[in-house]
Amino acid sequence: MRPIELSERLGRWSSGRGPLYVLLAARMRRLIDDGELPPGALLPPDRALAGALAVGRTTVVAAYELLRSEGRIVRRQGSGTRVAGTSSAGVVEDAPVDPIFLDSLEARDGDVLLAICAAPGDPPPQLAEAYARILPALSEIRGDIGYYPYGHPALREAIANRYAGHGVPTTPDQILVTNGGQQALSLLAHALISPGDQVLVEAPTYPGALEAFREEAAVPRGLPVGLDGFEAAVRERRPALAYVVPTYQNPTGSVLPVLLRERLARAAAAADVPLVEDEVPADLGFPGTTRPVPMAAFNEAVISLGSLSKSVWGGLRIGWIRSPAPLTNRLARLRAVHDLGGNVPAQLAAAHLVAELDDLDLAAELQVRHDHLRNLLAEHLPTWHVPTIQGGQTLWVKLPHGDGNSFAQTAMRHGIAILPGSGLDVTGNSDPYVRLHFRAHPTDLTEATHRLTTAWTAYHPPADRVPPRPAIAI
Ligand SMILES: Cc1ncc(COP(=O)(O)O)c(C=O)c1O
Repeated sequence: MRPIELSERLGRWSSGRGPLYVLLAARMRRLIDDGELPPGALLPPDRALAGALAVGRTTVVAAYELLRSEGRIVRRQGSGTRVAGTSSAGVVEDAPVDPIFLDSLEARDGDVLLAICAAPGDPPPQLAEAYARILPALSEIRGDIGYYPYGHPALREAIANRYAGHGVPTTPDQILVTNGGQQALSLLAHALISPGDQVLVEAPTYPGALEAFREEAAVPRGLPVGLDGFEAAVRERRPALAYVVPTYQNPTGSVLPVLLRERLARAAAAADVPLVEDEVPADLGFPGTTRPVPMAAFNEAVISLGSLSKSVWGGLRIGWIRSPAPLTNRLARLRAVHDLGGNVPAQLAAAHLVAELDDLDLAAELQVRHDHLRNLLAEHLPTWHVPTIQGGQTLWVKLPHGDGNSFAQTAMRHGIAILPGSGLDVTGNSDPYVRLHFRAHPTDLTEATHRLTTAWTAYHPPADRVPPRPAIAI
C-alpha cells in the first residue's frame, strides 16, 4: 500500500488528545480490527509514511512498535511491515472506496472544523415551509402505494419544466428522480460502464464521481478542466463515458463558455460517447451572473444530472437525471433494484422547491461568504494562490510550496480538516493544491483561516516529498 493511500484511509487520525504515536496507533488499530487493513496487507516503510503524514519518523516507528507489541502487525527485516495474519481468499486487499469520502460525511468531531464537505449547513426556511404546504396533500392520499421508481410525477414535471425554462425542452418521461446527485452518478456508472472501461474526467474533478466510476472498475483518464482535448482523447482511448461539471466546477469554480459547451456536446454526439454533464453546483452563481445554458441544449443525447443538495439542503436527498427516455427507462429499472424508489414526502416538498428555486436568493449570501474567506486569505496567507471565481462553493488553492497532503495533515493537527488536491485528480497534477469551501458561517470562516494560518506557520514540507500518484494524464 502506498503511503498516500494509507494516509487517506487514516482520515483525521491526529484530531484527538495525547501523543501523536498513540493517536496514529489507535486509528490504525481500528482500521485493522474493522478489516479495512486486511491480514497480510503491506504497510508503508516508516520514513515514507512519516513523509505522507508530515510527522517525524520516530512517531511512525513508535506507533508501529505499539501495534507490533499487540500482535496486530508483524515487522520483518527484508519483507517490511504487514498486518498480522495471512490474507484469505475473498478478502479485498484494497477497498475501492476512498475513505476520505465517507469520513468527510460521517465525522462530527467536536473541536475540529470540518472544511471538507462543501454543502449548506442550515436548510433555508423555505424547506420547512414546503413541508408545511404538502401536509394536507399527504393526509389525503388514498389508493397510492407510494412506490415510484422513476420519481413522483409532480416532481418529474417540475424538473422537466425547469429544464424547459433553461432552454432545454424536456418531457417528464425524460426525468428520473434519484436520492441526490450521488445516486444519479452511481446509476449512470452502473448502466454505462463495464469493468476496465476508460472514462474521461476533468483533472481535478468531484471525487464522488471518481468513486462511482471506480466502483464499476473503470479507469478514469484526466483531461484539463472543460475536457479540453476531448476529440484526441476519444480517438486514443475509446472511452465508455465522459464526465464534465460545466458550471461552477467542483473544485475549481470555473465555467465552461457556451461555445465550448456546444463544441463538446457535438463532438460527443459525433463520436457516440455518452457525455454526462453534472449540474449539481449550477445554481450557485454570484449576483449578476447568468446561468449558462445546459449542454443538453446542443445535443439531445447529453445526459444531465442535478440535485437540490447545494441550493437547498443535502439532507433532502433529492437529485435527478435528464436523459433520452429509453435510457431513463433503463436507469429506472436499475434504480428499482436498489431501493424501489425515493421518499415521497421529500419529493412532494421538492416539487414546490424546484418550481421556486430562483426565489431562494442564494447568490448574495454566497458572495458575502466567498468574499469574506477570500479577503482573510489575502490578508493572512498572501502567498497562497486563490483564483477568482463567479460562483460555486469552493476555492481551489495552490500552495506556494510543499504539497496538499502533508499540509492537510498539519492543518488537522491545528484543528481544521481540509481536502488535499491529490484525491480529486487522477493525473497527479493537483498535489500542490487544497480545496477550501465557503459555505460555513463567516465566524467559522474566520476561525478556519486562523487555524490554517497557524498550521501554515508550523508547516514543514517533508524533506523527501510525498511521491505523487502515478500520472495517467493524456
Ligand atoms: C459536482 C457534484 N456532483 C454531485 C454531487 C453529489 O450530490 P448530492 O449531495 O446531491 O448527492 C456533489 C456533491 O458535492 C457535487 O459537488
